[in-house]
Amino acid sequence: MVRLHASPLQGFTDFRFRNAFQRFFGGIDQYIAPYIRVSGKMEIKAANEGDILPANNLSLDLIPQIITKDAHEFLFVAKYVQEFGYNELNWNLGCPYPMVAKRGMGSGLLSKPEKIDEILERVSAETDIRLSVKMRLGYESPQEIFRVLPVLEKYPLVNITIHPRTGKQLYKGEVDLKAFEECIGQSSHTIFYNGDITSVQSFRDMKDCFPTIDHWMIGRGLIADPFLPAMIKSDSPVYPENRYEVFSSFHDTLFDSYEEALSGPKHILMKMYSFWEYFIQSFPNSPKSLKKIKKAQSLSVYREVVKQIVHEEAVKGAKLKL
Ligand SMILES: Cc1cc2nc3c(=O)[nH]c(=O)nc-3n(C[C@H](O)[C@H](O)[C@H](O)COP(=O)(O)O)c2cc1C
Repeated sequence: MVRLHASPLQGFTDFRFRNAFQRFFGGIDQYIAPYIRVSGKMEIKAANEGDILPANNLSLDLIPQIITKDAHEFLFVAKYVQEFGYNELNWNLGCPYPMVAKRGMGSGLLSKPEKIDEILERVSAETDIRLSVKMRLGYESPQEIFRVLPVLEKYPLVNITIHPRTGKQLYKGEVDLKAFEECIGQSSHTIFYNGDITSVQSFRDMKDCFPTIDHWMIGRGLIADPFLPAMIKSDSPVYPENRYEVFSSFHDTLFDSYEEALSGPKHILMKMYSFWEYFIQSFPNSPKSLKKIKKAQSLSVYREVVKQIVHEEAVKGAKLKL
């Protein structure tokens, strides 16, 4: 059985995106929220709170995520999310960004299995929240994970998601499928695969490589092509007839929710442009489109440009069918 999970992408997959996505596309069984990072003052940012508020996530199954290297912070967030009714917390051991990793968080903690052990020991003793982990192969070296997996064996984790790259790689280079295979052999936990699933075919290829994996996590591919999860679920690369109508309604819903949340056209345009850097991958015949979107200085021009781009694509699609 194929179960699909939506990767957290800080700055993209917040509750506004998730709700719009769930309404127009679906195909995702569970979402992970972008990570919560508490300040030294043990405060949760209002944006993080709004993002996991059950009232803002009524139509979807959501797991909150934490990034930390501190058991005390971990326990604080565990209690906090439990108060909202969550019974699972995902631990981010994968974030590759130097600002985070150099501070010993995210993938920066993977070279310290003893520290991971210490944190998990205390956290699992002091809270009954269920824990899952999302990780890379290491920060410097893809071998780091092989000292971490035996530590994770000691704890009753719900699952481990592995993105088979190192932190140092960021998103460059290939995913290391051989190392991922080795990880499967070295863990008795349920392993989720995550990385570079961008088409039905790339999913089929991964599934052929790892026939024992049932859980797949999709991040950038889901933003670039929001139809992808549903197409994977139906094992068909065929888009619905009304593809561009659906995309257009999704886009407008997303736009409206950011227009309501953000102050001033500049912020809204920047937000939508960052989505378009992904969306544009589904508009292969519009190389100039992204530039046009970038150039739009007002919301009305932006709306007009988007309408044109989507319309052009719809017309092309219709002609191809003739
Ligand atoms: C802009 C951006 C933000 C991300 N934010 C998070 C995050 O908050 N938590 C996390 O675990 N991973 C985060 N990731 C990593 C993704 O969840 C995912 O593991 C990665 O993109 C690989 O999967 P993909 O190839 O399907 O995109 C982020 C990635 C990107 C590109």
